[in-house]
Amino acid sequence: MPFRTIDYDGVFELVQMKDAIDAVRRAFVDFESGMFEMPTRIALGGSQVLIMPTYHRPTGSAVIKSLSLNFDRTPPIAGAVLWIELSDANGLIIDAEAITALRTGAAVGVATDLLAPPEASRLAMFGAGAQAYFQVQAVNVVRPLTHVKVVDLDPLRAERLLARLEILLPSTSVSVELDGNKALIDAEIVNCATTSLRALFSIDSLPPKVHVNAIGAFKPGMRELPDELFAAATVVVDDPASVLAEAGEIIEAVASGILAASHLVPLGLALQQPPNHTPWTVFKSVGIAVQDWAVAHLVAQRTV
Ligand SMILES: NC(=O)c1ccc[n+]([C@@H]2O[C@H](COP(=O)([O-])OP(=O)(O)OC[C@H]3O[C@@H](n4cnc5c(N)ncnc54)[C@H](O)[C@@H]3O)[C@@H](O)[C@H]2O)c1
Repeated sequence: MPFRTIDYDGVFELVQMKDAIDAVRRAFVDFESGMFEMPTRIALGGSQVLIMPTYHRPTGSAVIKSLSLNFDRTPPIAGAVLWIELSDANGLIIDAEAITALRTGAAVGVATDLLAPPEASRLAMFGAGAQAYFQVQAVNVVRPLTHVKVVDLDPLRAERLLARLEILLPSTSVSVELDGNKALIDAEIVNCATTSLRALFSIDSLPPKVHVNAIGAFKPGMRELPDELFAAATVVVDDPASVLAEAGEIIEAVASGILAASHLVPLGLALQQPPNHTPWTVFKSVGIAVQDWAVAHLVAQRTV
């Protein structure tokens, strides 16, 4: 069977973040309309190995992403996305690190475009690891940024991200802030992409109006956001079933009665029926295979 391989650089040659955002937006709407079959992902070895399949009925195409996760390694995510189609025996094997970076950034871009104030231009970025650069890039596509403050426990990582962002966003003021609560003072958008086990900031530090994206906590025991935020905010999620099964902070907030599971708004639904905006909005994502399909579909369409 003829399978072509698309490596990390090859993915970025074919797909820009703006296109990934548009594709992921369409895929979330399709997901909400029942056009995908997507079982809960398989997590092995304490969520160090993930296997994520989905099938898109209208196109007769599917992806299966298999990856290993190790935060003591660079890159933390390594693996492959298998792209297959019913109508074509040719398939693709695509670098999973690149697909994941684009699709995770893209979901945050979609949610930020929907939920952040139209004039928002100041970002606080918690986490300066592998995902952070793409998280900032995606927000900048939908809300051109004037200011970015980077927060990380590791000052060296924060400085490294700063240097990359200065090249990506030459007319944006980019700085490192060691105190997370201070980084929030004038933030209009907050991104969280950390491996934290505890809330990254206190509720008292949040400005009166802010949109928060949180992609970090993907298993029980992990947390980036304080409980009180879930009590007060409109909470949009990639997939209610997935976050209720996997996201530590959501599992705990529901178990303690602070957040009703029925208040979780699927992103695909919110795109079609925008929720009433509360001053605080949250997008919580654990990442679903539908996003991988959206970016892999672009790669397949553009591979000749
Ligand atoms: N939702 C999704 O679709 C999705 C996709 C990919 C990765 N992730 C998750 O996002 C998180 C970040 O991924 P990554 O690949 O960038 O990891 P990484 O290990 O490269 O970076 C994580 C960074 O978070 C920092 N950090 C940890 N605790 C912190 C704290 N309390 N305050 C400030 N900084 C802190 C670390 O110092 C590190 O620099 C991981 O949990 C990963 O599993 C989610």
